[in-house]
Amino acid sequence: MTGAIFFSGYYGCTAQFACWFVEATGLPVFDVNDANADPSNYDFLILGSSVIIYKLTIRKWVKGNLAGIENKPVILFTVSGAPPGPKLDAWIADSLPEDLTLKLEHVALRGRLNLKEVSWWVRLILKIGAWKNDNPEAKKHELEGFDFMDKSSIEPIKKLVQQFQSSQATSSKQVGHTQVTSERNT
Ligand SMILES: Cc1cc2nc3c(=O)[nH]c(=O)nc-3n(C[C@H](O)[C@H](O)[C@H](O)COP(=O)(O)O)c2cc1C
Repeated sequence: MTGAIFFSGYYGCTAQFACWFVEATGLPVFDVNDANADPSNYDFLILGSSVIIYKLTIRKWVKGNLAGIENKPVILFTVSGAPPGPKLDAWIADSLPEDLTLKLEHVALRGRLNLKEVSWWVRLILKIGAWKNDNPEAKKHELEGFDFMDKSSIEPIKKLVQQFQSSQATSSKQVGHTQVTSERNT
């Protein structure tokens, strides 16, 4: 069973996680901005997306490539400031088609925000967000930045990939066995 990683990010964190997955799994990786990023060539997909202003940055690519995505096992990893929880779930539901959201396996990873790396207007947007935010921790992150990048947080995804690969290997063996059995019976 052949899988691949497709990712979308702005500031390098999602790309960094994608590189760690390549190291760990050996799967091919594509930035969704690459013209060769075609999901229809693979049996299962790992989609990685950062969250910017309450939306997944991969959403347009997913909509444009839905035919090659929707009938396959999909793992989605999000990279955000927010931790896993209802807020993040709502942003995913708002960004992706409902049928896909219901069947995918989601793993929430937390990224980094270095205020020195962003433009003055992005800092302004973040200040406005902080002003409107009633969660003190999230407010602090928007005003001061944060760094949650952690290589070990990819472990749950490595396990899911192993499960996909071993379940496919088992079903291939079962198909092989059925064929042999039915040939014997004829
Ligand atoms: C302009 C801007 C908006 C952001 N909006 C959100 C948000 O709505 N929710 C969230 O959890 N994190 C938000 N973040 C944090 C990013 O998700 C985090 O920095 C992530 O690591 C970015 O990944 P990337 O480097 O792959 O783009 C925002 C960051 C920036 C710079």
